[in-house]
Amino acid sequence: MYVSVIANCDRTDRDREQLQRLTEAVYPADGSTAGAGGALSWSNTELSVVVREVADGEIAAHVGVLVRDCLHNGHPVRIGGIGGVKTDPDLRTRGLGRLAMTRGVEVLRDDLTAEFGLLVCPESASGFYDRLGWQDFRGELWVDQPNGRTRFTMNQVKVLSLRREVPVTGIIDLLGFPW
Ligand SMILES: CC(C)(COP(=O)(O)OP(=O)(O)OC[C@H]1O[C@@H](n2cnc3c(N)ncnc32)[C@H](O)[C@@H]1OP(=O)(O)O)[C@@H](O)C(=O)NCCC(=O)NCCS
Repeated sequence: MYVSVIANCDRTDRDREQLQRLTEAVYPADGSTAGAGGALSWSNTELSVVVREVADGEIAAHVGVLVRDCLHNGHPVRIGGIGGVKTDPDLRTRGLGRLAMTRGVEVLRDDLTAEFGLLVCPESASGFYDRLGWQDFRGELWVDQPNGRTRFTMNQVKVLSLRREVPVTGIIDLLGFPW
């Protein structure tokens, strides 16, 4: 397996085309697997972890990461975000998603010095993150939207300890769009 980390600004046209093909395979235009996220405004992640089965092959799995200074119970906290997690439907349950997530978590902890990780996911993907050590956040998550600050209730919120014990209760404010 070939795992690389690409900053959004360094993506080549080929990377972009491959990511587009992966997204279309995971979320076909017929809407059969579309999430409910279309109603919200989202932040783009900043770096992509991509997994290829051969060095110059197609991107088989992707995890996006970002870091943001947020608040937990009013105190500053540097949160590492994960988004855009997807594996080619023909290549699932072979460990590619786990590989991409493991590298993404390393980048958040070691390169971006995030204190803990946070992601949101549908119920259908929750078990995948549970297997990777993520916990359910049982408190309140607040985010910005174009019409103001709002409580995020659409998806499950999962958190992972990186550089400090992760809180599973309280109020987290992402101080921006969700990811
Ligand atoms: C979720 C997803 C990324 C998993 O990718 P994958 O490459 O198949 O995952 P892996 O093969 O690395 O799986 C790692 C482990 O999680 C398990 N797993 C995979 N998907 C799972 C799911 N949806 N629910 C529970 N467990 C799951 C695997 O069986 C494997 O278990 P093991 O440790 O016993 O071997 C993939 O199914 C996908 O792209 N889904 C559609 C998009 C999506 O829902 N993304 C998440 C949005 S938040």
